[in-house]
Amino acid sequence: MSIPTLRLTDAAVTAATVDALVVGTMSGDEGPQLLPGGEEVDAAFDGALTGLLALLGARGKADEVIKIPTGGAISAPLLVATGLGTVDDQPTSEQVRRAAGAASRALSGTSRAITTLSRIDLAAAAEGTALGSYAFTAYRSRNGDEPLGQMDLSVPSAGDAEARRDLSRAIAIAESVTAARDLVNTPPNDLYPASFADRAVTMAQAAGLRTEVLDEVALRGEGYGGILGVGGGSSRPPRLVRLHHAPPAPRAKVALVGKGVTFDTGGISIKPAAKMEEMTMDMAGAAAVVVTAVLAARLGLPVEVIATVPMAENLPSATAYRPGDVLTMYGGTTVEVLNTDAEGRLILADALVRAAQDAPDYLIDTATLTGAQVIALGSRTPGVMGTPEFRDRVTAISQEVGENGWAMPLPEHLRSDLDSKLADIANVASHRWGGMLAAGVFLSEFVPDDIAWAHLDIAGPAYNTGSPWGYTGKGGTGVPVRTLAAVLTDIATRG
Ligand code: BES
Ligand code: MN
Ligand code: ZN
Repeated sequence: MSIPTLRLTDAAVTAATVDALVVGTMSGDEGPQLLPGGEEVDAAFDGALTGLLALLGARGKADEVIKIPTGGAISAPLLVATGLGTVDDQPTSEQVRRAAGAASRALSGTSRAITTLSRIDLAAAAEGTALGSYAFTAYRSRNGDEPLGQMDLSVPSAGDAEARRDLSRAIAIAESVTAARDLVNTPPNDLYPASFADRAVTMAQAAGLRTEVLDEVALRGEGYGGILGVGGGSSRPPRLVRLHHAPPAPRAKVALVGKGVTFDTGGISIKPAAKMEEMTMDMAGAAAVVVTAVLAARLGLPVEVIATVPMAENLPSATAYRPGDVLTMYGGTTVEVLNTDAEGRLILADALVRAAQDAPDYLIDTATLTGAQVIALGSRTPGVMGTPEFRDRVTAISQEVGENGWAMPLPEHLRSDLDSKLADIANVASHRWGGMLAAGVFLSEFVPDDIAWAHLDIAGPAYNTGSPWGYTGKGGTGVPVRTLAAVLTDIATRG
């Protein structure tokens, strides 16, 4: 789905011919307060705006959106006050992003609005607006509310080169996040390995990346036992997609790997029926790395990026792999399958080995890998594992962009829990404790020790099954696209 038109304006916000004006509020000791940038709006209300907001029950809290008819006090007929919560010193970018998102959700059905949040943080206001207005309507046959059509972003000078650069980068990032959401939200009867591969290749070629797709015949020829094992139960055979952004004189080489299970029934170790439909999101890691590789090309980042993306559908059938099977992975490691529902790590193992063959300086994988991630960290906090230094760098960047990943350990003692009675390793431990870490330890077996590696478990954060909040609606969230994009940008500048 496309994002609203975003444009810079330095005209007076009180005189703009728009349907609504957005202002930010924050929680003060005595009720809501207007954020800096709202002064002229308050003046147009003869200084009565905060009183009016308080009367309507506003407190300036996060996710609070209050609408006031302006009765001619300003030219927009509607004023939308969106809360940032408690502001220490300066509002954080994430506070602005969320408040912009909440306002933009509340503006669905509106064709044109203007915001003052961009005076505080242009990029955050732009991203939050674009992401908050997202709605996945591709499968509705009846028209509902149109999402917000256009947001004018108030800035001191609309011609300012830095402002224009910030806006175009924010637009590129928001379009990537929404592209990932679209892939995640597309139902599994339409998004299966071959169709997902086609969509990835189409997007990548349009941005000038080199592409390669291994189909089931090629996968067999090269010994991708993990991908073939997991994908074997479906009539829709698996794929391995490779996307390559190769700029001249790159600063570093980064490998990206993402779990692309287009639907996860659990296979023969089948999942319960309740909520199984949510497993349409089990390719969110793959979606994130595909759009990030494409974004690297769009932004012209001086970093070589190679995405290696395994895609498979995990179904039970007469051709499905079984508990007890031993798979020979790409590169020769053997894995005893004790549970066919621990399938993500099997397709990732193949992909990690392939990705490492390119000798990258950094390797990042991301996956909706474990229910244990959701138990440990909840639905909004990705778990970040890997080699300590790079893990901490990725975690810090994830915090900065507001995706809020948290570093988790890979304790060595968990490795023996994965000992197999007949193969090199088993795909699950004999107990469920520390399941997120055990999955990470399994993956670490397939990553060479000399590569800086980060593994992001996004089982909870990739898909919102709760109420909308901030710039996050229901369904696919696009996490961790903004983290990956910021890590690549950081590597482009610091190496
Ligand atoms: N795709 C699931 C993990 C998942 C759970 C993602 C909830 C999003 C929300 C994964 O393939 C899975 O089934 N993991 C098992 C592993 C277990 C069998 C060791 C799990 O977490 O239960
Ligand atoms: Mn599973
Ligand atoms: Zn899965």
